[in-house]
Amino acid sequence: MKHLLKLLDWSREDILEILDLADVLKAEQKAGVVNSTLAGKSVALIFSKASTRTRCSFDVGVYQLGGHSVTLSSAESQIGRGEPIEDTARVLGRYFDGIMIRTYKQSDVEALAECSGIPVINGLTDDFHPCQILADLQTIREHKGGFEGLKLGWIGDGNNVANSTIVGALKCGMAVTVACPQGYRPMQQVLDFAAAYPGFALTDDPATAAKGADVLVTDVWASMGQEEEAKARQKAFAGYQLNDAMLALASPGCMVQHCLPAHRGEEISAEVFEAHAQEIFDEAENRLHAQKAVMVKLFG
Ligand code: CP
Ligand code: NVA
Repeated sequence: MKHLLKLLDWSREDILEILDLADVLKAEQKAGVVNSTLAGKSVALIFSKASTRTRCSFDVGVYQLGGHSVTLSSAESQIGRGEPIEDTARVLGRYFDGIMIRTYKQSDVEALAECSGIPVINGLTDDFHPCQILADLQTIREHKGGFEGLKLGWIGDGNNVANSTIVGALKCGMAVTVACPQGYRPMQQVLDFAAAYPGFALTDDPATAAKGADVLVTDVWASMGQEEEAKARQKAFAGYQLNDAMLALASPGCMVQHCLPAHRGEEISAEVFEAHAQEIFDEAENRLHAQKAVMVKLFG
């Protein structure tokens, strides 16, 4: 693997290798072991959308690995003034050893990878959020001890996080049921991939996704870039809240994942959020460890 553009490009073995490495790096960091894999290396972090976790975990991760990071927001760089992504790529490729980008179009991430000549990590696009799902998989394995025989239920928007969750969870051996309203389903490329897995189901009934689930996952109803649709989406997603009624249908000990930020009272109830805060904030912490593993592998 040269890049992390989307999990569809990675094999099951690639994913498991990164999860194992993430566990090692997490244990090392907790034990105070210094890891200098990125010593002398520089990483560009490009943001065309807002971020708290992705920005901080990449920046801290590069520092912990002995490297140097430069953060470029599109508003404060020539990217925001229309410099072609291909030209930006050819420049950054001459300064840096790796790039992480958060932006709108998946095609911009692919162009950056194509033209920069250095490894590129997708830090979220409208289509995918692979770094998030590596952290989620690390968290699920920590809490459940493995993946085989587990059912993951997704309730809500068939968005970027849903797309990556479906691919990552199926590749790791979980059964996946996705409950979305009509018109808000995951992308066709992902549904075509999932169709080969007998453990995959798509429904518009949230209770079907919740029933017998070992892991329940949700995300905001309106993603970044969809702010103007927020009202229409609140209507469309009524009944798709991850709440106590859904947890009551799940397996005993069902865990909850949410990539954050969360909107309590919309996609998740305040009660469920607080009852599962340990798992949700473990997931947020694991962004750091999982991304360090990706950077060691791709930039090291
Ligand atoms: N989950 C996630 O990617 O968070 P940020 O938008 O804060 O980076
Ligand atoms: N689906 C959300 C995830 C944020 C981390 C968004 O794209 O805004």
